[in-house]
Amino acid sequence: MLTLALVSQKGGCGKTTLAVHLAAYARQQGLHPAIVDLDQQASAYKWNARRAEGNELSPKLDATKATADKLEHLKNLGIENGIDLLILDTAPHANREAALAAQSADAVLIPCRPATFDLDAMVSTLVIVRATGKPAAIVLNAARRGKRKVAEAREALESIGATVLQTVVHDWVALEDALVDGRAVHEYDPQGKAAEEVALLYRDVTMLLATTKQKERATV
Ligand SMILES: Nc1ncnc2c1ncn2[C@@H]1O[C@H](COP(=O)(O)OP(=O)(O)OP(=O)(O)O)[C@@H](O)[C@H]1O
Ligand SMILES: [Mg+2]
Repeated sequence: MLTLALVSQKGGCGKTTLAVHLAAYARQQGLHPAIVDLDQQASAYKWNARRAEGNELSPKLDATKATADKLEHLKNLGIENGIDLLILDTAPHANREAALAAQSADAVLIPCRPATFDLDAMVSTLVIVRATGKPAAIVLNAARRGKRKVAEAREALESIGATVLQTVVHDWVALEDALVDGRAVHEYDPQGKAAEEVALLYRDVTMLLATTKQKERATV
């Protein structure tokens, strides 16, 4: 089982949106994913609750609400229950919980909007994540059309030593609309650009997690 934590101190950058999309896409790829919702708002958990029971196109996933002190127990449960990919959605402004989530993950994904306030807030997130020593990458999310903002954000983040994924997730109404009835975009508009970007993000995340595993094997 591999564990991915979505972490950012900045509210509204897309942690939950990307967490549920990655989980649903992993299921479509034949994995057995599970979501641990560490945010009291429980948006990811509620999204899963809206998924239709028995609908084979968008069936309910394994999802639970928890606090970070339960993570080790939940990871053990996940292994026992044959979960392949555990996705941790975290709350903003929660240093300790975010740090514990990152600590218990194999890799950390940090969504960041390519906008000034989001970039300013990134330093505190990077401090928390770097302290865990876990592999981490930023994904530029909800980017508007046009390359300039994305290029500037990438440059600013790389100048402070951050890894920024090649895949950029743009601002797609479909990403939001799909969630209304508990779907993800590849279950809602599978041929659309948003679904294509989620698939590319999933590929990048899989590679990030695979690198971690390879390193672990190399050190054993
Ligand atoms: N790529 C995107 N395209 C369009 N809308 C997006 C995208 N990513 C996120 N959003 C929208 O932005 C809002 C905030 O997203 P989300 O709730 O996923 O952020 P969050 O980081 O989980 O927030 P919080 O820190 O409050 O938990 C939501 O309305 C969501 O639908
Ligand atoms: Mg959230």
